[in-house]
Amino acid sequence: MIILGIETSCDETAAAVVKDGPSTSSGLTILSNVVASSVELHQKTGGIIPEVAAREQLKCIVPVIQQAVQSAKCKVQNLDAIAVTIGPGLIGSLLVGVETARTLAYVWQKPIIPINHLQAHLYANWLTPEQESKRAGEQEGPEFPAIGLVVSGGHTDLVLMEDHGKIKWLGGTRDDAAGECFDKTARVLSLGYPGGPAVSAAAERLKVKNRLKIKLPRPMINDDNYDFSFSGLKTAVINFVRKKKKVDVPALAYEIQEAIADVLVAKTIRAAREYQVKSILLSGGVAANSRLREKLSNHQIIQSSNYQIFIPPPRLCTDNASYIAACAYFNYKSCRACPPLAEEKVKVEPGLRIC
Ligand code: KG4
Ligand code: ZN
Repeated sequence: MIILGIETSCDETAAAVVKDGPSTSSGLTILSNVVASSVELHQKTGGIIPEVAAREQLKCIVPVIQQAVQSAKCKVQNLDAIAVTIGPGLIGSLLVGVETARTLAYVWQKPIIPINHLQAHLYANWLTPEQESKRAGEQEGPEFPAIGLVVSGGHTDLVLMEDHGKIKWLGGTRDDAAGECFDKTARVLSLGYPGGPAVSAAAERLKVKNRLKIKLPRPMINDDNYDFSFSGLKTAVINFVRKKKKVDVPALAYEIQEAIADVLVAKTIRAAREYQVKSILLSGGVAANSRLREKLSNHQIIQSSNYQIFIPPPRLCTDNASYIAACAYFNYKSCRACPPLAEEKVKVEPGLRIC
């Protein structure tokens, strides 16, 4: 089965071709994965202006799909389906991907599989190349039940995955998402956009002796639920910067990263224990954060238990279309949770929830 994935939910225009075959830990092969990003334009404005993002999507979508199909070296007639993100995301950006997918489905006479972007992020964990797969015995990809943490720019959700297409929401952010907290605090510190990599790079510049100089709150870390709240953390950073004449930026960046990672790791592990899962899956752009990856993998409970930890390579954490195609592959193949539809039935859903 060969699937063309299309992703345009925000500021990345992405297309990928994925095929069943042996090169990743779960037996899928990424034949091509093309991403065009308008991030440089958004850096100038310090954030995304939806109209600007949509216009860039329109410029890039056809060349990106062309390049993905060409570099996959597969013929259009060999494609089995087209998978496209229908939400959540920016309406203008989503429309570009969905309308293009519908047109191609009509012209090429292919079924179209509508995909939830947040659920799809989790599927980067079924695409880890074998050589990057950390443990032997991961040949089948993650085992169920699994806890999935999806941490992106606009969403923070913790879910229980009992099977493909069987996802239960356990909790999520009540206000800002983890990625949003990185982006907004980076702005306060004039570190640029996107904030996650910028805060992380600033934290790397910290001298060890200054490590414990600043203490920020870990919101809701001990609350008996799976919800998150990052706006208080953002406010604490703003207040801290206002009070100080001179801010040690690396020290503050380090502590922001620690606080966010501590809360995410604590709640993920608590959920894994309560639901007695076999696997823990990280996903979403924030999962590219090296400190979060390290804190989860090295946590004493993880080290002393049998959980399989899956963390996609950083390039598969941030938005791309390979996991859109992978999500379609597993759900269509095994449980038909997202069946292919006739092209006229596929519509954008900007406010879609993870489940
Ligand atoms: O999943 P994603 O690429 O796009 C959305 O679906 O939103 O996530 C983007 C988010 C941004 O907030 C960005 O700052 C954050 O992921 N991010 C990171 C890192 N790389 C991207 N956050 C922390 N550390 C990183 N290395
Ligand atoms: Zn995303």
